[in-house]
Amino acid sequence: MTHPEVHPFIQLANVRVRLGGTEILRGVSAGIPRGRMTAILGLNGAGKTTLLKVLLGEIAFEGVVGFRCGHDHSHPSPRNVGYVPQRLRVEANLPLTVRDLFALALNERPMFMGTKRDQAKHLAMLTVVRAGHGLLDRWVETLSGGELQRVMLALALEPHPELLLLDEPASGIDFLDKLRYYDDIAAINASEGTTVVLVSHELELVRRHAHHVIALNKGVVAFEGPPDQLPATGGLDSLFVRG
Ligand SMILES: Nc1ncnc2c1ncn2[C@@H]1O[C@H](COP(=O)(O)OP(=O)(O)OP(=O)(O)O)[C@@H](O)[C@H]1O
Ligand SMILES: [Mg+2]
Repeated sequence: MTHPEVHPFIQLANVRVRLGGTEILRGVSAGIPRGRMTAILGLNGAGKTTLLKVLLGEIAFEGVVGFRCGHDHSHPSPRNVGYVPQRLRVEANLPLTVRDLFALALNERPMFMGTKRDQAKHLAMLTVVRAGHGLLDRWVETLSGGELQRVMLALALEPHPELLLLDEPASGIDFLDKLRYYDDIAAINASEGTTVVLVSHELELVRRHAHHVIALNKGVVAFEGPPDQLPATGGLDSLFVRG
């Protein structure tokens, strides 16, 4: 693999973020390789979600985030970036079904004017994330945590993103499907060449699927490199210090 420092898709240089008077990211420099799966590891509060928000352009930062795509990605737009947030705040009484949500996201007509083609597309979107077709007519606010995460992944994949940012996307996925869920994300990365940045606490799955790892400790990079160079699970306290 090309080392990300040589040809990174995204290059972060001395990225600093201050929130509520505290410096959360304290000079993060790292590379995210194109077409590969990068895992971001770290203890709770290390700054992982904050880093994804920087990549999304959602929060103010100092330093440089350089996108090297051959065209202007200095302001990545939702068309080429898919995002599954860690927490989804679904408003109570949101009068939307999953089908409506998909139609809105795809800029289609409202459901009552939907065509057979739209229906097939929506079913295909759920099939990709191994969700039952029964979800289509459910109210979004009634979905379980894992069901909502699958729907969000389906939305993030449509249209095919160039960059897919996943913040603990399988935290609510049940144990029977968690391994398949990671397999599916790895398959999307391999078949579509999508650059994936995945925040995860699933160390074994990260070791199996990620090509590149960035470990954050208290807002700085404690490790960057291939997962086989990570310390053994028993030695991780050399990288991660609580408090
Ligand atoms: N808007 C904010 N104002 C003040 N502090 C914030 C704000 N947002 C996040 N923080 C703090 O910044 C730190 C990093 O938060 P972040 O959500 O990036 O952590 P994380 O690594 O994603 O953790 P987790 O594994 O728990 O999801 C935390 O201590 C959090 O409390
Ligand atoms: Mg987080």
